[in-house]
Amino acid sequence: CLWIRNFRLKKRLPGPFAWPVVGNAMQLGQMPHITFAKLAKKYGNVYQIRLGCSDVVVLNGDMAIREALVQHSTEFAGRPNFVSFQAVSGGKSMTFTNYSKQWKIHRKMAQSTIRAFSSANSQTKKAFEQQTVAEATELVEIFLKLGAQGQYFNPAQELTVAAANVICALCFGKRYGHDDVEFRSLLQRVEDFGKTVGAGSLVDVMPWLQSFPNPVHSMFKNFTDLNKEFFGFIQNKVKHKSFDPEVTRNMSDAIIGVIDKADNDNGLTKGHTEGTVSDLIGAGLDTVSTALHWILLLLSKHPDMQTKLHELIDKDRNSLTYLDAFIYETMRFTSFVPITIPHCTTSDVTIEGLHIPKDTVVFVNQWSINHDPLKWKDPHIFDPLRFLDKKGCLDKDITNNVMIFSAGKRRCIGNQIAKVEIFMFFAILLHQSRFEKRDNDDLSLNCSYGLTLKPLNYKITAKVRGK
Ligand code: HEM
Repeated sequence: CLWIRNFRLKKRLPGPFAWPVVGNAMQLGQMPHITFAKLAKKYGNVYQIRLGCSDVVVLNGDMAIREALVQHSTEFAGRPNFVSFQAVSGGKSMTFTNYSKQWKIHRKMAQSTIRAFSSANSQTKKAFEQQTVAEATELVEIFLKLGAQGQYFNPAQELTVAAANVICALCFGKRYGHDDVEFRSLLQRVEDFGKTVGAGSLVDVMPWLQSFPNPVHSMFKNFTDLNKEFFGFIQNKVKHKSFDPEVTRNMSDAIIGVIDKADNDNGLTKGHTEGTVSDLIGAGLDTVSTALHWILLLLSKHPDMQTKLHELIDKDRNSLTYLDAFIYETMRFTSFVPITIPHCTTSDVTIEGLHIPKDTVVFVNQWSINHDPLKWKDPHIFDPLRFLDKKGCLDKDITNNVMIFSAGKRRCIGNQIAKVEIFMFFAILLHQSRFEKRDNDDLSLNCSYGLTLKPLNYKITAKVRGK
């Protein structure tokens, strides 16, 4: 009968028992993506947990994730209305805003601005590449200088400054010296951003924690402060006053131009310029620098692979497929954005036969795709060769199986420039130098959890090639 059919259709999602008040918050552990993959073995790829006062659906594995994000792209295009999300980019963020007509226009504008300044034509492509080469060259010099003094150093901060400079140059035609203390300290503060917006953070799901002093409360205070500080920095750099519609100097000019021309028809206001720029800089610096951070760690951990890469660079600079393979394997193996930014359903939807109501928070576990033993042989082993076919070419069917930029309506809009940047930084660093660990150091792969997984403090040195 109809009642039984409805009951079956709307049966409660499977999932672990949720404790009163905290739900499953205390069971996530240090690395929630690994806990989520383990829970999927017991409850299936689509299950529900409870975090404080929020029901959360966790999606795991290629099939369920693609069914949701690609086949039901609109239903999964939302973002939760978390308080922390409202503190980002002066409340005018595109990334942290729910699905709406205005969001679609906002995203399109951000997407076409990135394209216009990186790949629209050969001139912009060249300008973007030159900027990246200049940053990479300066970075090598700094590393080699430290190496020449016999120092073992952690490359994190220099990588962040270099990645920030590429995106700052695009956004407002300005870069900063590696010795700029103010800029470095701002970037260091922004490092904590991902701890609050990463899936499983408790700030948004236990609002009562805001009312008395405790670690979550101070984390949220720190988060709102760092967002204010970062947004203030952006507001200072976007030059509305000297804007000339005839001359587009950089990305922020391009955005001012689009918003002015639209004459408010699309709901975007002046504040959305800074909001968009802040989104792009925030997204562009943490991710790219984290990718490079892992690459240097893995290069130093696998000296044999580094030697092979050096031979390849010396032999044929036009065919660097092994270098591409190393990058893909770094993205798969580390899955350094293990879970996407939290999504939210925009209407009722059914995935793998399970009903998910409108306005449900959704965690998309990218790590589970990249470590699925049915898809990858020995997923826990770092092996770039898995991406090369018998002729040594990159196998597109296999590279497409890596998920790190998400999919569907919320997929990353910076993936193209990110790939170019990472490739160029990596190729230039390798061409000029050799990275080495201390003899007795195995280089741990331990990392801190957040929106990105960051390697814990490790030290390496850099030597001029051939010495
Ligand atoms: C969103 C990954 C670099 C701009 C995202 C998301 C992921 C991601 C996983 C979330 C998607 C979702 O919620 O489903 C990465 C990785 C990068 C990278 C791994 C580098 C290796 C960049 C760069 C930019 C950028 C360089 C821009 C300059 C954005 C924006 C969004 C986003 C604006 C928000 C999209 C939306 O909410 O509609 N990225 N990203 N990303 N990314 Fe990236």
